[in-house]
Amino acid sequence: MRVEIVKDYGKLSRKAARFVAGLVEINPQVAMGLPTGSTPLGLYEELVDIHQEDDLDFSYVKIFDLDEYVGLSRDHSRSYYNYLQENFVKKVNLKSRNTYFLDGKAPDKKEECKKYEEKILKAGGLDLVILGIGRNGHIGFNEPAEELLARTHQVELASQTIEANARFFESEDEVPQEALTMGIGTILNADQVLLIANGNSKAPAIERLFSGKISTKFPASLLHTHPAVTVMIDQEAAERI
Ligand code: GLP
Repeated sequence: MRVEIVKDYGKLSRKAARFVAGLVEINPQVAMGLPTGSTPLGLYEELVDIHQEDDLDFSYVKIFDLDEYVGLSRDHSRSYYNYLQENFVKKVNLKSRNTYFLDGKAPDKKEECKKYEEKILKAGGLDLVILGIGRNGHIGFNEPAEELLARTHQVELASQTIEANARFFESEDEVPQEALTMGIGTILNADQVLLIANGNSKAPAIERLFSGKISTKFPASLLHTHPAVTVMIDQEAAERI
């Protein structure tokens, strides 16, 4: 696990965007798993800038969203589909046939998850997965548990996650209780992983990640088993390591 510590959120976003842009330049058909949340907003903005100013071409890039709330339709303002469309997809030249999203309203969730894994396989697997990290160590929506599921699946959200994500909704009651998420195995199968974190609210999680202990009760720690993980964090998130 390689760690890069930068001064602040602006630098983190720029550095992460340059990392991603570099991969797109080397392999214009790169397949990426993409996160949501507050952390990657700056990264998406920077990628849009690189696209507009330096013509970074996304027309062959494939993207897969990491997770989605169960019960939210795609046009719901808080769906991850909507988040990725508004913050990234619509602002670059991604082709809709190359964008893949989990459907939180799919009538048969098991089938939806199975189909998603098949789509990833058909794309030749993921070249890169970009991750944020939950304060409880979740990645995607793989929540701390005795056992974790390897493949894309439906999951019950931890109360800490519901609380943390309430800021995106009118009230905590509106936060969906369940989600669909790529599994830990889906993530670990990617050729490369880039995890980004900023701010002192993430410092305890980063401290735990760098303790080197591996436990399903702290899902991000499983990343220690992957040979090509880059962790980019700002000084605030790094304050305990
Ligand atoms: C969310 C998402 C994760 C994200 C994490 C951190 O619930 N499911 O993919 O990485 O929580 O979010 P934030 O960046 O807003 O702190």
